Amino acid sequence: MSGTRLYICCGSGGVGKTTTSAAFALQLALSGQRVAVLTIDPARRLADSLAVGPLGNEPQTVPLERLNPVPGGQLDGMMLDMKATFDDVVRRFAPDAESRDRILQNRYYRFVSTRLAGSHEYMAMERIFALYESGQYDAVVLDTPPTRHALEFLKAPERMSNLMDEGVMHWLSLPRDSFGFRALERGSEAVVAVLKRLIGGETIEEIAEFFHVFQGMWAGFRERSVQVRALLRGPNTRFLLVTTPAPAARAEAQEFVQLLRRDGLPFGGFFVNRVLPAPSTSQALSAELLPKRPEAIPHAEWEQICAGVRQATVYQARLASAEAPALAELRREAGDAPLWTLPEQDADVHSLDALAAVSALLAPAVAQLSRR
Ligand SMILES: Nc1ncnc2c1ncn2[C@@H]1O[C@H](COP(=O)(O)OP(=O)(O)OP(=O)(O)O)[C@@H](O)[C@H]1O
Ligand SMILES: [Mg+2]
Repeated sequence: MSGTRLYICCGSGGVGKTTTSAAFALQLALSGQRVAVLTIDPARRLADSLAVGPLGNEPQTVPLERLNPVPGGQLDGMMLDMKATFDDVVRRFAPDAESRDRILQNRYYRFVSTRLAGSHEYMAMERIFALYESGQYDAVVLDTPPTRHALEFLKAPERMSNLMDEGVMHWLSLPRDSFGFRALERGSEAVVAVLKRLIGGETIEEIAEFFHVFQGMWAGFRERSVQVRALLRGPNTRFLLVTTPAPAARAEAQEFVQLLRRDGLPFGGFFVNRVLPAPSTSQALSAELLPKRPEAIPHAEWEQICAGVRQATVYQARLASAEAPALAELRREAGDAPLWTLPEQDADVHSLDALAAVSALLAPAVAQLSRR
């Protein structure tokens, strides 16, 4: 068994999963580990911070030598390419070259390989499993696809394999002259019309061919999914929840931990992102700290600016303390599990140095998670 550790960063849409996973992975690398991070659709500036060229499906080594001091670890970044990953899976499991080519050229395959519900998540799992198996890394960090809800990621692969497994799969792979096939052919014209519009051409034939050829690969898929299941429940995996101090976060955190427990998935802790830092004082700033009025600014206007600046610490302290109850609730939810906070940053991550600055804040998380 590979000693690679696996960290899966889940969370609702827009909470900062991609940013946090990249920063966390970088911090693991800065602590001397060989790390791979699989990001999903990173913001352009974040992708540019990680890579020298365009970030793609193949691991690209992040130029850590640009940092000062140069760290001992290694970080490979990549961005999930659904189609390329699904193609790799087909190549691996196809029983022969002919079946492989028939699937890869099938129009229905090209359609489902990027759009089937749950396939995004399935492919992400597939990709990390390959990284894990390669034995090249001490740690693999997975960012997860944008979902409305953090829990959807956990449910998706199951949904996909149910769909592929018994139901549609068996029905559609019946021989062409069978009742099932004819029923489908004659079946709901509306559905067929929609599919035709989406895929174009000889829809039904291609769908039937896809499932027919695909059936030959299904045993491989199933075996693989059993291995992935085992890996996700293994001692080297930790699920992490990226969240924010928003009022809805508590219910989500609670549900997340419960679902992990129910499914026997190991919980690693919470990253609470975008926490407003409390200022060093909650008093208004002394007028003496402010500069002299520049000639160009009229007296009344300057007074207003100064009043605003002087009160900034008061407002910031008020906002930070308004978040305190939500944070306390999250801490209670975490129980014995760790919770780390990541403050709101002034600007988006736009360079490797900026990412390193954010990742330094995650040093306690790296230390704690690496200790086990
Ligand atoms: N701590 C932070 N301070 C300031 N901005 C942040 C912080 N964390 C994330 N952001 C910004 O919030 C936006 C969303 O972040 P990110 O893309 O990491 O979220 P996500 O959870 O991956 O989103 P999606 O669900 O769409 O994948 C980005 O513009 C990012 O720069
Ligand atoms: Mg994201």
